[in-house]
Amino acid sequence: MTTASREPRMLLPLLTSGPHGSRSHLTCQFRCGNACDQPVPNTSTNGHVRDEISKAVARRSVLQGAAVGTGAMVLAGLGSAPAAAVPATTPAGVARAAVGKDLGRTSFRPVAPNKRDAVVVPEGFRSDVVASWGDPVEKGAPRFDVRRQTPDSAAKQFGYNCDYVGVLPLKGDRALLVVNHEYTDPNLMFPTDLYPEDTQKEIEILSHGMSVLEIKRGRTAGSWLRVSPSGTRHNRRISTRTAFAVTGPAAGDPRLRTSADPSGRKVMGTLNNCAGGMTPWGTVLSGEENFNQYFDASGDLDPRYADSYKRIGVTGAGRGWSSVDPRFDLTTEPHEPFRFGWVVELDPTDRTSTPRKHSMLGRFKHEGANVALAKDGRAVAYMGDDERGDYLYKFVSRDKMKKGRGAAARRHNLTLLTRGALYVAKLTGDGTQDGYDGTGEWIRLTSDTTSYVEGMSVADVLIDTRLAADKVGPTKMDRPEDVEPNPVTGKVYVALTNNSNRGTTALPVDEANPVGKSMTRPALGEPLREQSGNRNGYVLELTPARGDHASTTFTWDLMLVCGDPAAQETYFAGFDKSQVSPISCPDNVSFDSEGNLWISTDGNVLGSNDGIFRVPTKGALRGKVEQFVTVPRGAEACGPLITDQDRSLFVAVQHPGEVDGATFETPASTWPHTDDFPRPSVVVVHKHA
Ligand code: FEO
Ligand code: CA
Ligand code: CA
Repeated sequence: MTTASREPRMLLPLLTSGPHGSRSHLTCQFRCGNACDQPVPNTSTNGHVRDEISKAVARRSVLQGAAVGTGAMVLAGLGSAPAAAVPATTPAGVARAAVGKDLGRTSFRPVAPNKRDAVVVPEGFRSDVVASWGDPVEKGAPRFDVRRQTPDSAAKQFGYNCDYVGVLPLKGDRALLVVNHEYTDPNLMFPTDLYPEDTQKEIEILSHGMSVLEIKRGRTAGSWLRVSPSGTRHNRRISTRTAFAVTGPAAGDPRLRTSADPSGRKVMGTLNNCAGGMTPWGTVLSGEENFNQYFDASGDLDPRYADSYKRIGVTGAGRGWSSVDPRFDLTTEPHEPFRFGWVVELDPTDRTSTPRKHSMLGRFKHEGANVALAKDGRAVAYMGDDERGDYLYKFVSRDKMKKGRGAAARRHNLTLLTRGALYVAKLTGDGTQDGYDGTGEWIRLTSDTTSYVEGMSVADVLIDTRLAADKVGPTKMDRPEDVEPNPVTGKVYVALTNNSNRGTTALPVDEANPVGKSMTRPALGEPLREQSGNRNGYVLELTPARGDHASTTFTWDLMLVCGDPAAQETYFAGFDKSQVSPISCPDNVSFDSEGNLWISTDGNVLGSNDGIFRVPTKGALRGKVEQFVTVPRGAEACGPLITDQDRSLFVAVQHPGEVDGATFETPASTWPHTDDFPRPSVVVVHKHA
């Protein structure tokens, strides 16, 4: 194994389990406003696949029987059936090239579960830090000094808690790295009592957003380096100082108007950006996720919005940010929360472009959005609403994508996400005992001109998408996160992270959500123990009818029921469970040019650090989960992204050291070991020279 540089020994505060699983209470507080402590916000009675629990349990034993004896083969390369004629979902040059398929094809010895304060990769590979919290992004950004942070410096430096990673190739050896900065943690960012409280809040607000960084190839194949801000015209920091335009039918709606923006069409900033995706026309999408937690809802609220606030979780006192920006106080600005919770589109190649919030893709806790092309060339964006018991969505554009990179095609393609139709998914079990599988339909909620939800206008559906979906009977899922089409096979993969409430009366198990009790491990080396709920998550595979992303029906199966291979409930697409790595809490998914699935995890409840896994999706090795990376203590692994002819794996290491009891002075991690405190960073993993 190789690791990042020196790795000092540290004492770890004790972790307790509870509704948060292994995830630190700090992470829960600052990332999602303790969403798991709130009641499940979906109290609608629709949408359960009405299979009896006993049938689901019976099916499990069948699956276990089927899991034996399929994985004894060892191949030099992974299954490599010819690619289906499915349009690429990533820009040319990224993840689709036909040569040098190092990461997709190479055999490696999987990384063992561990609690090291390091990025651990298999022998023969190494990891390099590309960008860390505080690194200069914009020209004139000061050198990072943790004791001299200012709001102005934060607005120009690499933000906190990197999540989504996109890489868009430029000419020659250059590319643009686009990164989300999801949330902040003042306990780890600031020396105790050094800064006035309001200064801290301003720094935190400006440490959210996105970064665009020019990078260039290093000497070793697969390695990448940051270009200095003075050496590029592309670098850009997106923050609450950046104006966004709202597009689509909800733009200008009275509910989006505020005293600072009477038009309802211009929003300053983007918040809690989690995952995202690259479009076939060369832009980046980013999901505004747990935006609800930033607003102070403790005063007298406008009763017109009570149901809306409740369904999206706008409750409580927020972060106290209204002391530095009154727009976060709902007693004076009741409409501000309606200006977040959208999918954002950014053109990283033009630093003067105005990023946009596309109302046509609905408003909910957007994990991210990934676009594939329908057979006729329309754009189809797949999306998850990351909440226990919420839904899967897709958007289908009205217009077709124009090919080519000319200015006219580009102008046209930038309008694709402004008109079309929004759908929500209903999954039905097939009732047979040959696996967790069945059929599904995409239920149309609205087009840009006509609402299909009784009693709700087009704008109503787009602004209160959860309330609209509740009325049409979709399936309540276990925290749908990344939803991403496989560019090689055309199938669509959904990371369903976990759901501590699955299996309760309010949220019974069904064929698409079959685990209501899970085996978890309180610490490495300790025995598995049973916990209520779906603690380890699933990977769901959707097959669009006729291989067309625009079709309104699909078949589905649970490709992975995650957890420890020794636990009865786990399932690895029928692959031999004695030959797979334990995996817990899948979060983001990505693909190499072989069509292998790469999965990042967030919240491992098997005693190990989180990490990145490779899984073939076809051939004899389908379901062979192998751990490729573990990330440092307290961190979740984000991204991931395979680029550069499959030689590079980009991984965002988010919230290293975010462990209960940790503070700036008593860190639980010092990764990447450049300082005596942790710094969230993007790394690239590649082969040794
Ligand atoms: Fe930010 Fe859904 O994780
Ligand atoms: Ca994430
Ligand atoms: Ca997540």
